[in-house]
Amino acid sequence: PDGSVSFVKDVAECDSILQGGYAHPTSRKWQAKRQLTKSMFMYPIFITDDPDASVEIPTLPGQRRWGVNKLEGFIGPLVEKGLESVILFGVPLNCVKDGRGTPADDASGPVILAIKKLRQLYPSLYIACDVCLCEYTDHGHCGLLNNDSTINTPPSVARIAEVAVNYARAGAHCVAPSDMMDGRIKSIKRGLMDAGFGNKCTLMSYSAKFASSLYGPFRDAAGSAPSFGDRTCYQLPPTARGLARRAIQRDANEGADIIMVKPALPYLDIISDAAELTPDHPIACYQVSGEFAMVHAGAAAGVYDLKTMAFESVEGMVRAGATLILTYFTPDFLEWL
Ligand code: PBG
Ligand code: ZN
Repeated sequence: PDGSVSFVKDVAECDSILQGGYAHPTSRKWQAKRQLTKSMFMYPIFITDDPDASVEIPTLPGQRRWGVNKLEGFIGPLVEKGLESVILFGVPLNCVKDGRGTPADDASGPVILAIKKLRQLYPSLYIACDVCLCEYTDHGHCGLLNNDSTINTPPSVARIAEVAVNYARAGAHCVAPSDMMDGRIKSIKRGLMDAGFGNKCTLMSYSAKFASSLYGPFRDAAGSAPSFGDRTCYQLPPTARGLARRAIQRDANEGADIIMVKPALPYLDIISDAAELTPDHPIACYQVSGEFAMVHAGAAAGVYDLKTMAFESVEGMVRAGATLILTYFTPDFLEWL
């Protein structure tokens, strides 16, 4: 018989066998292009204006609104376990809100006090601040409005940049605008440079932020639901892959240092697009409040094991191209990794 024929047949049979490559737990780990590390996780925390607050958020299992005086007891043990970065969200409950979000950068407001406190307590902790106006405006929208209730872009962008620079002045290592106003990245970058923070403060853009049902628990926690209408004229339509790609490229061109996609799990194609379009930037994604609540709810309903599903969810994000994950699971991953 003809030896070459049987050789070809053997190769074809060998080719169909894959399981030998991942039969051992260690060889399974090598299938990942990138391993999960503790430094990939950024922990979102809610800071409120009652300095002694420690109030459970019913829709976000295990998460609380914290007062500045409680930060040490709460963050200290996490830093011990390897926490490297946090992102702060202000939850003002005792302030007068107005049309331009004046309390956002109040020097005695919760965010600025928390930045200073954390810088002093944990000199090596990286402190990012969400920058938006919706927690501080009387109408609950993310920018300033015209008389007809549409967004008034130029003063919105100017105000967002002013708040970002004031967070940088207070000591934030990173400002992260989540408002989705056109042109804010350029304006914040300019503001940071003019104030002397161009070489000190990272600008992380929520570039591809979609109008999602998954922000519900966050809006409960932060009291930031709009008092009328919705955010569909500034956050992206869930169908809009093209707009997301344009927003990612625009923000990179305007000076963003980190590109973020939000929410994460339903938008893995967008994470993958970001990794392809801006391969020289860190790619962040935000496993938002509703995603976190969903993973917990499914586990509580017996659909899956919580830890296994939490891993599967973030492994998908990293596989898609994320290098930084904002998630309420951060304390859990510090335990698990
Ligand atoms: C504020 C902001 C929101 C989130 C982050 N920053 C809510 C929103 O846009 O309505 C959502 C985070 C989460 O759901 O965990 N602009
Ligand atoms: Zn907002």
